[in-house]
Amino acid sequence: MAIKFGLVGYGTIAPFYLKAIEKNPNTLLLAVCDTDESKKAEIEKKGFHYLRDYKELISNEDIDAIIIAAPNYLHSKITIAALKAGKHVICEKPMATNAKDASEMVKTAKKEKKALFVAFHCRFNEQVLKMKSKNKDIVGFRAVNFENILDHCNSNNPWYLNKKLSGGGCIIDNGINFIDVLYEFIQPLTFVKSEILDEREGIEVKAKLFFKQGELELDWNSSKEVKKIVLISENNDEYQINFLDKENDESIGSHMFHEYENLLEYFLTCLKNTNCYGERGLYIQQIIDKIYSL
Ligand SMILES: NC(=O)c1ccc[n+]([C@@H]2O[C@H](COP(=O)([O-])OP(=O)(O)OC[C@H]3O[C@@H](n4cnc5c(N)ncnc54)[C@H](O)[C@@H]3O)[C@@H](O)[C@H]2O)c1
Repeated sequence: MAIKFGLVGYGTIAPFYLKAIEKNPNTLLLAVCDTDESKKAEIEKKGFHYLRDYKELISNEDIDAIIIAAPNYLHSKITIAALKAGKHVICEKPMATNAKDASEMVKTAKKEKKALFVAFHCRFNEQVLKMKSKNKDIVGFRAVNFENILDHCNSNNPWYLNKKLSGGGCIIDNGINFIDVLYEFIQPLTFVKSEILDEREGIEVKAKLFFKQGELELDWNSSKEVKKIVLISENNDEYQINFLDKENDESIGSHMFHEYENLLEYFLTCLKNTNCYGERGLYIQQIIDKIYSL
């Protein structure tokens, strides 16, 4: 029987979930919740039940799992409420705005014995999966994640540029996805120091993160989207992962459609194994806390 989902937050990332759920024969989206009532008509036109309050969504007995695609500061509150209501959860990255909240989420998932999965979509890129299957011993890396935040942030979602609501800038937003990917190949990842190269109103816009094993460059104000990781093996062989569908991809984010399809399929396996309580999300969040604290 299909797993029935409810979605909280009908914003920029929502279409990727809608498409992935539609394509997967084992999943169904029943209802969508967004506090912005101007989205009601579009949601209903697509055939989903519209709700304004997430509490109504998580109390719907027909729903098995909740996807949380709301602003970052709401992740922990809504996740914990959904788990307590007996729902499995896919929570968008970052898991929370700090590791203390993320830890509460893990504790609740374990107590309620419900799956909690943090949606680090880059890990599900075909290039990453292909590289994983090569089973190489990776010891180092160089990585670049450049985008223009204004490509998915405008006057409708100013929360991205408010540290209290987002938790930070390019480090917690884009850095977190790449740290998660790098962790697939190198464990443990040893953080050394960061350099903030540009900061606006308390939010880092450009940064360089130094790990014992390599450097990660981040830019939230780039004219061109660049998402690349070069992995270096023990024998000094280099393997490049380019996350974009093609060089100079005009349609920003198009590669994310297949990533979310793979991510959803993975979540279904988490439901079968029921040993997925958000620990990976917490681990990555702890690295982010450390980066911000130094
Ligand atoms: N935009 C991207 O490219 C992208 C990529 C990966 C992950 N994410 C993550 O997805 C999450 C959402 O990002 P986004 O870019 O879609 O944001 P967004 O601002 O475009 O959309 C968020 C939606 O949540 C709604 N919302 C706000 N408070 C709510 C509440 N209390 N209950 C229900 N709905 C509420 C807003 O009205 C809005 O429609 C973030 O955690 C972000 O880090 C975004």
